[in-house]
Amino acid sequence: MTDSSHFLHDHLIDAADLSREDIAIIFDRAQHYLAQIASPRRQSSELAGLNVVLAFFEPSTRTRVSFELAAKRLSAEVISFQSAASSMGKGESLLDTIYTIEAMHVDILVLRHLHSGAPHFLRPRIKSRIINAGDGQHEHPTQALLDAFTLHRRLGELRGVKICFIGDVLHSRVARSCIRILLTLGAEIAVCSPATLLPAQFFAAFNVRAFNSVAEALQWSNVVNVLRIQRERMLQGLFPTLREYANYYGVHWQMLEAYPDLLVMHPGPMNRGVELSADVADAPRSLIRNQVESGVAIRMAVLALIAANRRGRRQA
Ligand code: NCD
Repeated sequence: MTDSSHFLHDHLIDAADLSREDIAIIFDRAQHYLAQIASPRRQSSELAGLNVVLAFFEPSTRTRVSFELAAKRLSAEVISFQSAASSMGKGESLLDTIYTIEAMHVDILVLRHLHSGAPHFLRPRIKSRIINAGDGQHEHPTQALLDAFTLHRRLGELRGVKICFIGDVLHSRVARSCIRILLTLGAEIAVCSPATLLPAQFFAAFNVRAFNSVAEALQWSNVVNVLRIQRERMLQGLFPTLREYANYYGVHWQMLEAYPDLLVMHPGPMNRGVELSADVADAPRSLIRNQVESGVAIRMAVLALIAANRRGRRQA
């Protein structure tokens, strides 16, 4: 493994905070953990004696399960709670809930919250290390790392690889974080979605091209990362109907036939038949299951690197 003493982050909140070297250290660690995941009984002790609290104030399946598995594989004590089952539902503020958790001397807090900026708000107010597991429509850095790692496993060096995000880019924290990480790694980025689902200001700041049609996007791309329509975050109808969306922006099998090397990704959860058809999701070129596998390894790597810093500081 490469020397991880150069990884100096206490928290992981924004993908933009990670340098190329940080990402290389995380990937290297994740590669090491992939072997451990393949053998179900193997456990290592990087997080022994540390508490990890998974505080999910928004629904989640794969992210929460994958963090939980990752932390347990590293021998942490894991406490998991979701907002519906916690006092948030009784009107307690986020800060009060977190103070309560703090009083329990939590070492690492993995936080998912429906408000963009929630982890930034908490960082100066609590002593725990924070890993952002998705804040509103802002950032989701471990998903971005696992997507980039999945591509790195398949393609090696990502410099010059053309990746297009198709779908609801406006509400996607995955796209925001992923684009930052992929640009840091030298990939070329495009987006393709209805104009009402594109955050123009965000893209003005980056070298990202936009396609109007899926056909053009597929012709340009080596990889497409298909995004879910996030109806739960939409205040008004930003497109007419799901059926119309599926017709104009859905990725269907016939469209891919001309591009046998084109790879397909999706962060999940998928709406089969809307943003992509079932045969695309299940095709051999689909990396969706590899993404889930990479997710556990990447989260183990991030947890272990942040925990090592915490222990280092305690000893210093
Ligand atoms: C994404 C999320 O929650 O941002 N899913 C995930 O973490 N696997 C994407 C989504 O909800 O569409």
